[in-house]
Amino acid sequence: MSIIIDPIQLGSPDLQIVASRMRDTLIDVLGEEVGESMYSLEWLYDRAVSHIDGRLLGAIYIARVGPESQNVGHIIVRQEEDEHGKFGLVTTAYVLPEMRRKGIASTLLGAAHTWFLSRRLFRTATDTAENNHPLIALYGRHGYEVIFHSKEKQMVRLSRELLSTK
Ligand SMILES: CC(C)(COP(=O)(O)OP(=O)(O)OC[C@H]1O[C@@H](n2cnc3c(N)ncnc32)[C@H](O)[C@@H]1OP(=O)(O)O)[C@@H](O)C(=O)NCCC(=O)NCCS
Repeated sequence: MSIIIDPIQLGSPDLQIVASRMRDTLIDVLGEEVGESMYSLEWLYDRAVSHIDGRLLGAIYIARVGPESQNVGHIIVRQEEDEHGKFGLVTTAYVLPEMRRKGIASTLLGAAHTWFLSRRLFRTATDTAENNHPLIALYGRHGYEVIFHSKEKQMVRLSRELLSTK
């Protein structure tokens, strides 16, 4: 299966799809009641747009497959900074349920790593619920390790170095 990765542009109709899948992700990870009520679709849409309109230094990549170039998943990334310096954060990755286990998230993660490296961000991280086993397995497969576990928030942070800078 050939997977095409496209950066999303401002004004693209795909932004609406991304926003509703951000909500699907929350429902997937947190359950229907909490996930649906957490943020409005308008808020999620604006949050997605903030990654490509200059408010945040970020990007969104879409995975497309098939003759119709169907949008089957996305990844949202941005630059962040902590006490150790700048790093690349994957804020969310999502693949349509019927398209999972075909390497699509792995391909999207590759695009995220390329974006980080082009900005000289040599460390990357992502946060997820401690019980999001598919996502933790995906990142584990790509060399990430749990570096922080908040038992209180039931969240983990996964991280890896992208390149040795030495
Ligand atoms: C997590 C998610 C993005 C994975 O997408 P995907 O396209 O199926 O991932 P890939 O096909 O690239 O998987 C690559 C590897 O990750 C691991 N993996 C992915 N899904 C897995 C699962 N359900 N169980 C165990 N391992 C899994 C496997 O090692 C897999 O390789 P394999 O298929 O050869 O065994 C997808 O399940 C998803 O969208 N989940 C809901 C959204 C979500 O939770 N997003 C994160 C919010 S922070």
